[in-house]
Amino acid sequence: MVGLSHVALRRLITDYMPQNASTHWPTEMLNSRRVPGENLKTTPETLRRSEEAYLVPQILGNEEIPIQKSVVRLVNEWGASGIDINMGCPVQKALKHNYGVSLMGDVDYAANVVEMTKKYSTVPISVKLRAVGSEKSIPQLITFVQRLVDSGADWITLHPRTAEQKRRGQSDWLQITELKKAVKVPIIGNGDIQTADDVLLMMNETKADKVMAGRALAARPWMVWQLGEKLGFQAPKIFLNQKAPTTPNEEGAEYGRSLLKLIDYSEESFMQDAGASESITLRKLQFYVRTTHVWLEFGHTLMAACSRCQNLIDLRAAVTLFFQNEQAMYARTELRQ
Ligand SMILES: Cc1cc2nc3c(=O)[nH]c(=O)nc-3n(C[C@H](O)[C@H](O)[C@H](O)COP(=O)(O)O)c2cc1C
Repeated sequence: MVGLSHVALRRLITDYMPQNASTHWPTEMLNSRRVPGENLKTTPETLRRSEEAYLVPQILGNEEIPIQKSVVRLVNEWGASGIDINMGCPVQKALKHNYGVSLMGDVDYAANVVEMTKKYSTVPISVKLRAVGSEKSIPQLITFVQRLVDSGADWITLHPRTAEQKRRGQSDWLQITELKKAVKVPIIGNGDIQTADDVLLMMNETKADKVMAGRALAARPWMVWQLGEKLGFQAPKIFLNQKAPTTPNEEGAEYGRSLLKLIDYSEESFMQDAGASESITLRKLQFYVRTTHVWLEFGHTLMAACSRCQNLIDLRAAVTLFFQNEQAMYARTELRQ
């Protein structure tokens, strides 16, 4: 997720990973026209810690040379375990360049991008896409995906909302079920995962091979710990012999603790390791609060306080003050943006 799936948030979620559990980590989408010329060690979007594994950077692109250069760099120099192709981004900038969700408008064009990526990649490649057309036609989706698979896609992540829906409205899990039945490669289901129970529900209902959680996992990074408890995993190393937060107040308090940690991790990675400015780091943290505050009962108050901050000292003080009062976190919300 642009602005969110960065090294600091991955580190925070990793703290909550049960022992012996692992996951794939998508990155923010990376423009294939920019990756070839960027310093991957200092660009905030491509920062990584050496101990990170199973990183799957997502690229946005439609031209062979930039895709080739990006893939080769990301795999050989950066250590990608897989390459994901973005076919879901509906923002105007992507549409203008005819990539992102535009690729879904023409199956030959989309298949060509998959072929190009596959040609230069020595690691598996995947495609993240949306529901097809305003009618959300399942047969059309299956035909489309089958072509991508024939062109070299090793797995597919489906976010079953249409481009018009953006990220609002309900995610149509039936599309995940039908796609899973129809194609042979692994399917990752995405959309509307707000709690650990939702992960199990989606897997049960759709038979998806894996589940991808976006916004709610950012808000509730301990969701992986809660899920681990349900599946019989041992608690995360740094929370040994403790139980995952579950009540609204326990989760509210955890949000505060994890946000303070995210500030520390962001300062370390962006400012100390990569030399980014404090204002860039602050903006990333404010964006995190803007996206995730909707799960907090009085999240709008936190967001307003964080928006007023001019530096990280102010931000830490605002967060600390807000969480001096007991705060509750909703299991689910319709207010996601
Ligand atoms: C701020 C933000 C940025 C996003 N950026 C990307 C992106 O770069 N690539 C992508 O495939 N999806 C992106 N998404 C969409 C999410 O990956 C996901 O498909 C969507 O939020 C639905 O999942 P959720 O309901 O679990 O959040 C983004 C979503 C948000 C909220």
